[in-house]
Amino acid sequence: MSLRMAQFCFLGVLVILSAARCAWGYHEETHYPCAFIDTANITGSYGSDGSYVHNWTMIPRHLVAVYDFVIENGIRIPATPHLRACVCKTTPCVRICCQEGEIYDLERRQCLVPTVELSTLPSQSHMQVEFNNGSLRDVELQSRFSIHVGLPCEHMKTVTKGSEYVHWTLHENGTITHRGYTFSKHYCFTLLLHRNSTWEWQPLACAPEKLHFVLGVREWTYAICLLIAIISMFIVLIVYLLCSEMRNSFYGVAIKTYAFCMILGYALLGYLTLHNPANLSNAACRILPSLALMYLVLSFYILSFIAFKLYLSFHGVVFTKLMFWLIFTPIVLIAVGWSIFVGFSYYGYRLIFGGDTCWFDPRNWSIMIYLYAPVFVACAICAFFYILSLIYISEQPELETEKSFESIEKNRFRSFWKYVGYTALVWLVCVCVFAFNYYREERSHLNYAVSFCMAFHGFAALYALIGKNQQIQNFLRRIDNEEDTCENSVPLSSFG
Ligand SMILES: *[C@@H]1O[C@H](CO)[C@@H](O)[C@H](O)[C@H]1NC(C)=O
Ligand SMILES: *[C@@H]1O[C@H](CO)[C@@H](O)[C@H](O)[C@H]1NC(C)=O
Ligand SMILES: *[C@@H]1O[C@H](CO)[C@@H](O)[C@H](O)[C@H]1NC(C)=O
Ligand SMILES: *[C@@H]1O[C@H](CO)[C@@H](O)[C@H](O)[C@H]1NC(C)=O
Ligand SMILES: *[C@@H]1O[C@H](CO)[C@@H](O)[C@H](O)[C@H]1NC(C)=O
Repeated sequence: MSLRMAQFCFLGVLVILSAARCAWGYHEETHYPCAFIDTANITGSYGSDGSYVHNWTMIPRHLVAVYDFVIENGIRIPATPHLRACVCKTTPCVRICCQEGEIYDLERRQCLVPTVELSTLPSQSHMQVEFNNGSLRDVELQSRFSIHVGLPCEHMKTVTKGSEYVHWTLHENGTITHRGYTFSKHYCFTLLLHRNSTWEWQPLACAPEKLHFVLGVREWTYAICLLIAIISMFIVLIVYLLCSEMRNSFYGVAIKTYAFCMILGYALLGYLTLHNPANLSNAACRILPSLALMYLVLSFYILSFIAFKLYLSFHGVVFTKLMFWLIFTPIVLIAVGWSIFVGFSYYGYRLIFGGDTCWFDPRNWSIMIYLYAPVFVACAICAFFYILSLIYISEQPELETEKSFESIEKNRFRSFWKYVGYTALVWLVCVCVFAFNYYREERSHLNYAVSFCMAFHGFAALYALIGKNQQIQNFLRRIDNEEDTCENSVPLSSFG
């Protein structure tokens, strides 16, 4: 029981630490003279009298600042501090997506030479501009604007009203508006066909690569299979709690703690599968997956701890309470520390938890590094002690194994190893499915194979930890007999 108390304490510490870090993380953004997109790297430019000369234009001091980041594809990426000047403040900028003669293909997401042979493309050098005095004129861009060619993001999209393109107005100062609505600074102009007949300049906006939340048959299958696993683990937990022989033994306590971790880990996984990240708060989106990660990693290290203990018990080493805590506390601390570390880590300049998904992003390899790698290490530790134990057993003479103590240990050993084998198999399937999905560019961790493996994991626990454990079987048989005798005694007493 004290193990569980300790777990709750660690959980509390984790929650408090996360909350503190969250509050601390919302620091004030430093102020820059203009948005990143309106700046140019002027490192190495000639500077004097508090102003800089860049590309033959004077840039006053107050339009220059040190930036310690760059923005690529809409994501802020840390960079070595460098000088940037707000070049779009001295000469207004106009951004055009593609080189002369190409247009942006909205479906293929790249600049292509248009295939429709309607008419020649209008020249890129002229565009209609509204002046501050209200007059509209077709002007040569080069004379009034600085022209930037390129895509601000990999994926651009049109901004339409309903399904109609709207007419956006380019102003003298470089802003683009439509009836008081200002277009995003992260834009670029492309020519698009209007009503299949005329080319029209349209600004395109960055389309963030959102991972859409789906709750379909696959997600429900996964959740139901997780529920089956949870129920099975719960049965294991109850049986081990009831079984008096297991109550105070190391093995019993360890298996109970393990089952408890598995139940919580799988329950959190199920919860995260069924809930839209958009409906979870920022903090919940980071704390819940961190907790799930902690329970799952901890459960595997409990398995390797048991493997270690089983190996020692063949050598007749008896664990004292102190020794148990000396080994178990660091294991818990490692699991907690790891999940806190992952909760605050970035993968590819994005937080691992708390982006589009409240679990590992299936579009990158983060789950391999942060979940499967520690699990693999735990499995390797297990395998190491398994092999040592097998070697030890094979070296023992046959006669000694006839003793009753030995047979209990051996039986435990066999039932435990069956279970570890099935667990490793289940997780191996998960890893393979993830790799398979990743290469097929499926944007999910899930597959029916993973779902069925989860259910299988539950059955494996019932089969190996209850069905194959002699002590538990004896205990269940005793209950059965007691019930039988009770049933027999009822009619007797009623006669009396
Ligand atoms: C800025 O320009 C300098 C010199 O051209 C270059 O060394 C540096 O890497 C650039 N910095 C960024 C962030 O692009
Ligand atoms: C320098 O300015 C000219 C026009 O003022 C422009 O055509 C050219 O692209 C600019 N070069 C750079 C590197 O910004
Ligand atoms: C508006 O301003 C532009 C340039 O500043 C000028 O060419 C145009 O003639 C002006 N139009 C009117 C109606 O004043
Ligand atoms: C640019 O001009 C438009 C129209 O005159 C105005 O609404 C807008 O505020 C101006 N933007 C800037 C940055 O000066
Ligand atoms: C434009 O052309 C496509 C096929 O080329 C056709 O399906 C569509 O109906 C046309 N739209 C209009 C408004 O003419």
